[in-house]
Amino acid sequence: MTDATNRKPIRKAVFPVAGLGTRFLPATKAIPKEMLPIIDRPLIQYAVDEAREAGIEQLIFVTGRGKVSIVEHFDTAFELEATMSGRGKQLDVLDATRIQPGNLVTVRQQVPLGLGHAIWCARAIVGDEPFAIFLPDELMIGVPGCMKQMVEAYNRVGGNVISVLEVPREDVSSYGVIQPGAQVAHGLTEVLGLVEKPRLEDAPSNLIISGRYILQPEVMRTLEGQGKGAGGEIQLTDAMARMIGHQPFHAVTFAGRRYDCGSKSGFVEATLELALAREDMAADMTALIKRLAATLD
Ligand code: UTP
Repeated sequence: MTDATNRKPIRKAVFPVAGLGTRFLPATKAIPKEMLPIIDRPLIQYAVDEAREAGIEQLIFVTGRGKVSIVEHFDTAFELEATMSGRGKQLDVLDATRIQPGNLVTVRQQVPLGLGHAIWCARAIVGDEPFAIFLPDELMIGVPGCMKQMVEAYNRVGGNVISVLEVPREDVSSYGVIQPGAQVAHGLTEVLGLVEKPRLEDAPSNLIISGRYILQPEVMRTLEGQGKGAGGEIQLTDAMARMIGHQPFHAVTFAGRRYDCGSKSGFVEATLELALAREDMAADMTALIKRLAATLD
């Protein structure tokens, strides 16, 4: 086992954004799924904000064809800024899109062979240090944010840390599921095993892996040459499962809300809940929802 006390800080994060987003077609034919906005921020922006809050410095985007707008979103738009300044408009609305020069790196996944393969594409940039992974279509809203909660757990136990959520038992077959071990602290559990999209009768728990990970760099070697798993894709869950027993592995039960924005209903749910939580929209949205609800009975 790796010594859990010998911990390097989490400075790098990988954002796999090379998927095809087929569940959102035709919206995602020319626009990346990760650029679909929840109100006025694209999904990728929420993930990057969460990463920065957790102290992450370097952002590694694993991109593919048609994903240029994700990188452009974090670039300086000279014409836009000059025009806005000329009209006396504040530029602070763009602050979240500014990245320290040199801290955004892109690598290409030429063919979307699966999440595990996308992560492996970032191996040269990740190098020999532990790193975070964010799946931007899973929107995690918490105080502090999900990755910050995970980094706090990592500082305690080291090794690999993933975030999990409890779901109704009948839903487990759509997700990666953990086999929980000893509880280390409130909301922090040892992980004894992982299985991707198990049949209901084979599922070791109803704790599903959500889209945030802190992994040791050895996962890249484990992914090397790994065959296809569930759904014919190279699965990250399979690589993580093979690391258990060789390295410390823990799960943090995320204290917050998770929205699956890769699904249409999750996307609408996130839009409504986040709008209700905003001072500038709450009154209008409450009135709207009450009016709609009254028409339902
Ligand atoms: P998903 O499976 O949710 O995204 O992957 P998808 O394949 O784009 O969506 P659907 O199922 O066709 O609608 C989770 C994340 O992993 C990335 C996706 O871009 C998404 O952010 N991903 C997935 C890759 O980067 N490469 C892949 O080969 C697969």
